[in-house]
Amino acid sequence: LAGLHIASKELSTAEHLSGVKTVTIVYASQTGNAKAVAESVYQQARAKNVSVQLMNISDYKLKSLKKEDYLVIVASTNGEGEPPDDGLAFHEFLATSKAPKLDGLKYAILSLGDSSYEQFCQCGIDFDMRLVALGAVPLLDRVDCDLDYEQNVATWTEQLLVILLDELSASQPASSQCASLSESALTHYDRQHPAQATVLTNQKITGRHSTKDIRHLEFDLEGLGINYQPGDALGVWFDNDETLVDELLTCLDLDPKQSVNVDEQNISLRDALIYHYELTQTTPNFVEHWADWSANQALIELKAQKPLLREYTASHQIIDVVREYPAHVDAEQLLAALRRLTPRMYSIASSQSEVEDEVHLTVAVVRYEQADGARYGGCSGYLSRLKEGQSVRIFVEPNQNFKLPDAQTPVIMIGPGTGIAPFRAFMQHREAVGASGQNWLFFGNPHFSEEFLYQVEWQKYVKSGLLTRIDLAFSRDQGHKIYVQDRLRAQAHEVYQWLKNGAYLYVCGDATRMAKDVHQTLVSIVCEQGQMAQEDAQEWLKQLHREKRYQKDVY
Ligand code: 2AM
Repeated sequence: LAGLHIASKELSTAEHLSGVKTVTIVYASQTGNAKAVAESVYQQARAKNVSVQLMNISDYKLKSLKKEDYLVIVASTNGEGEPPDDGLAFHEFLATSKAPKLDGLKYAILSLGDSSYEQFCQCGIDFDMRLVALGAVPLLDRVDCDLDYEQNVATWTEQLLVILLDELSASQPASSQCASLSESALTHYDRQHPAQATVLTNQKITGRHSTKDIRHLEFDLEGLGINYQPGDALGVWFDNDETLVDELLTCLDLDPKQSVNVDEQNISLRDALIYHYELTQTTPNFVEHWADWSANQALIELKAQKPLLREYTASHQIIDVVREYPAHVDAEQLLAALRRLTPRMYSIASSQSEVEDEVHLTVAVVRYEQADGARYGGCSGYLSRLKEGQSVRIFVEPNQNFKLPDAQTPVIMIGPGTGIAPFRAFMQHREAVGASGQNWLFFGNPHFSEEFLYQVEWQKYVKSGLLTRIDLAFSRDQGHKIYVQDRLRAQAHEVYQWLKNGAYLYVCGDATRMAKDVHQTLVSIVCEQGQMAQEDAQEWLKQLHREKRYQKDVY
């Protein structure tokens, strides 16, 4: 979209000269959803002849804020309520005393998030609160969207455009000038228009005695014209397990064949549940509805205790709630309480400079036992059932916040468990292009014999010299736990030297515990090796992050 971006900037300059008011749309996006939404708002505004410019929030000149007339922000939120990487500077700027008075500014905010996190849509909420505090006036109410954001986005955009057109016609003659932009960049596969790829391989890569079922999947992209970069993610659309759907229908005593309306089409209730609604992730909203319908006291009490409610939703699928707390509902009620199915993102485990028309994934199959049998993760369960030759609906989600540096720069990669995936892509790429930079990998999993993912490949890379160092943390091969951060700490001097010498640092995998503990360890390493105070070490790492030399892909 580089072309689009530049063209829209030129447009704004021309219109500034002519005195026409411009609407600026910025997006703060971690995985690309907020960007896609902002692009769609931009296109719709342009179609209405609004003078509009679109940019990534990290490219926004903070100084322009006080001169801005209309600012539209589409912001997603990271796991624990943090802004996406590209929104950090803007977020920080608004929070400081340097932030200017903004009483001339009118703004609109759309926030994207995941309601199963406690700090749902926090980044958008923060922006909203700060802008109001600085004197800016909202054009319309902020909307906080959950993972199935399409409908909310459509309604909000429609309202926004009505209000903007009204505002602009009051303040200026309607602008008829529109630069002609190449739209070709927008005609690719995306979330709403996935490609059909064929399954080449679906192989379990954990040992027979492992408690984990981790799969290596390969999809064929031949003829699709799909390109991706190391660090990008693959979006995968999935269907719910038919057995699960049938169990649910039986349990609720609902007719599978009855007709329901989904996206203005009549389909059977059974198909609606297989293809259109989430059954494997339970939302607080669903439990709240179910508490009312079942009139169950325990569930009603749970409604009021948010942290407990979240814990409950994280460990219970829809079928578990329905089984445990019987209630009579009709098909319409059920569907209204469920969230729409959304694709899942997986860090790509291959590089096209090595595998060409293929894309590889490393997927841990989510599986746990309930009293009446096993439960599977929605998408990982679906992937684990795929057979060679079947087709999958996929799309590439570029990740600008997880990219290799130039070929000479050394990299340190920390990726326990399936966090290893993007580093397999990194190494394939660096080998294929003959990159001279040094590479250091930290990997961990429970057991050497069962869960050393891609062992043969790493050994080959060590032998060839591509992998300069590999440090392994098999947590359960000895009496006490050993984690990647313990290996990191043991190499504190070397790690700090690498960083001082310009190495890029990457962390991929579990966000809630691993990435936090690794970060704490890095703080203490920088403290001790750089002889800095705790706060300075934190700032040092923050600076590394700002310079994109410390990148995370955590989930
Ligand atoms: P464990 O399951 O034996 O505790 C990949 O999941 C690896 O990450 C496993 O070896 C797991 O160890 C380990 N792990 C668990 N918690 C971790 C943490 N807080 N930091 C780093 N690694 C962790």
